[in-house]
Amino acid sequence: MAFKTLDDMDFAGKVALVRVDLNVPVENGAVSDTTRIERVLPTIRHITQAGGKVALLAHFARPKGQRVPEMSLAIVRPALEAALGQPVGFAEDCVGIAAKRAVAGMAPGDVVLLENTRFHAGEERNDPELAAAMAALGELYVNDAFSAAHRAHASTEAIAHQLPACAGRLMEAELTALDRALGDPVRPVAAVVGGAKVSTKLDLLGNLITRVDHLIIGGGMANTFLAAQGHPVGTSLCEHDMADTARAVMAQASDAGCTLHLPSDVVVAREFAAGAAHEVVAADACPDDAMILDAGPEAQAAIIALLGTCRTLVWNGPLGAFEIAPFDTATNACAREAARLTAEGALTSVAGGGDTVSALNRAGAAAGFSYVSTAGGAFLEWMEGKTLPGVAALGA
Ligand code: 3PG
Repeated sequence: MAFKTLDDMDFAGKVALVRVDLNVPVENGAVSDTTRIERVLPTIRHITQAGGKVALLAHFARPKGQRVPEMSLAIVRPALEAALGQPVGFAEDCVGIAAKRAVAGMAPGDVVLLENTRFHAGEERNDPELAAAMAALGELYVNDAFSAAHRAHASTEAIAHQLPACAGRLMEAELTALDRALGDPVRPVAAVVGGAKVSTKLDLLGNLITRVDHLIIGGGMANTFLAAQGHPVGTSLCEHDMADTARAVMAQASDAGCTLHLPSDVVVAREFAAGAAHEVVAADACPDDAMILDAGPEAQAAIIALLGTCRTLVWNGPLGAFEIAPFDTATNACAREAARLTAEGALTSVAGGGDTVSALNRAGAAAGFSYVSTAGGAFLEWMEGKTLPGVAALGA
């Protein structure tokens, strides 16, 4: 899809409303992971260096149209100032008098953070009037929040129709990377899909089997597929009521020419605990009183060998119970191999969504991937093949 970028806009002397995703984790009153903040700095700096004034629009948590003090973006401001290396003004509302005053007081190069857009019920309703009130604050709109682009909200969708609009650098980078992975990838393409439940990833699986050559299933989801093949899964996490669906996915994959990879062996334990006594068994031999917590060494070696034959990899979800050693073994080994192949130039690797980034960080592999998305839900919806409203609204 064609869209304008920062390079197409003249920011000098103008107020740019920049939608960013500052929905960052907070622990003990302070931001505990600044990744999302750091990733929007290039856009902010581009505009300030061009003599523009930046008014940041963002949501934080889910206040559902209420002014909830604990969900004020004020909590993010110190981390933003530290990352940016300059003071950031703050307006106690994203529209109205407070916002107007803050914006009117800006000089070229200044940055102001406007309060949580979700304090207004109109935000989630994609209310054009709320969007118009935001748009009235500035002259240009920049969307740099790919990770919120699956929401058709006033600050991500409606506003883009009310001002000259473009994508920020992070939005551009996300869209380019994702297109290289699934839009127009170098083949063969493999997807790793892990995580707990098949039921939450049905659309995703349905889309992937039409796009990738190899679909590697891991985590709790693999148990559901093993059970659907008639294998015992003991006390494993498993959606037995999804057996028919899992069989249908397997049939569709085979019709679409996509090879589905399930583990041939598994690591089982009697309790879900770090360091729990464990053993390796064939995938069709899980004891009744044991649960599957990781892919086994044979399965791990098969995935590693397969990655060596692929040119593109999309990764979403861990292969096992990655939070507790030693059940993080397959996830770590396969993620490190993907990073190694990427460093060699043999593989383009893109990862994102939910637990994936923390699993790759734990493996020490995230930095080795070609691209790690900042998005959770938006990454999943993109993997489902859905049009993201915040992206579509930027369409030139
Ligand atoms: C995210 O954290 O994935 C985005 O900021 C979207 O948040 P939401 O799921 O509350 O819309």
